Amino acid sequence: MFTVAVIAQKGGVGKTTLALHLGVEAARSGPVTIIDLDPQSSAAQWADGRQAQQPAVVACPPARLAVALHAARRNGTRIAFIDTAPAVESPALAAVRAADFCLIVSRPGILDLRSIGVNVEIAKLAGKPVVLVINAAPVQGGQAVAAGEDAHKRYGVEVCPIIVRQRAVFGHALVGSRCAQEVEPAGKAAIEVAALWDWLARRAADQGQYDVPGISMARISAA
Ligand SMILES: Nc1ncnc2c1ncn2[C@@H]1O[C@H](COP(=O)(O)OP(=O)(O)O)[C@@H](O)[C@H]1O
Ligand SMILES: [Mg+2]
Repeated sequence: MFTVAVIAQKGGVGKTTLALHLGVEAARSGPVTIIDLDPQSSAAQWADGRQAQQPAVVACPPARLAVALHAARRNGTRIAFIDTAPAVESPALAAVRAADFCLIVSRPGILDLRSIGVNVEIAKLAGKPVVLVINAAPVQGGQAVAAGEDAHKRYGVEVCPIIVRQRAVFGHALVGSRCAQEVEPAGKAAIEVAALWDWLARRAADQGQYDVPGISMARISAA
């Protein structure tokens, strides 16, 4: 099982949005569990409104994370995402410790990016691979790329080559307990999510923790 902690010190940057979209995408190639560590339980509420069994969403307090991950592994989960509350204190630390890989989410704005340093530091101290993904970037213009370069220089963090743009469907799909790729399967958001998942699955494969069924480089370059 490959476990990804989705973290950020800041709220509202898209941790839950990306955890759910990646979870739905990953579930096309095998069982997925999303562990919702956030007391706001947005991911769990999203799952309450769904008929589909996958991805499984489990809300649990941070103290039960190890038990929840153990159960997920026993149930045949291949990819687990840990959605966290905006924090750097012990719950976020628990997620980082339990993870094989840390995904820091930030919007491209300067104030968002300047808050990621401590997340990078925690992941590095824990010895975990860590990558920054820029979410909700303006649809046009080079702000996101410049922001990524700045973050790389400032914090020495690897930046994901896939940028997720600001697209209304990311928000309104969740209202109906769905994801963008389910609402608009041919839309740009769907392509971005597929590309992000392909990229992540490759990283998991590189770490020897996942074999990648049907990776499509064509979709990555299309995003
Ligand atoms: N790429 C995006 N495009 C448009 N809206 C987004 C995007 N990502 C997140 N949002 C919106 O931003 C808000 C916060 O997202 P959320 O995933 O709840 O953040 P977090 O879990 O980090 O607090 C939500 O209203 C969500 O719909
Ligand atoms: Mg959230």
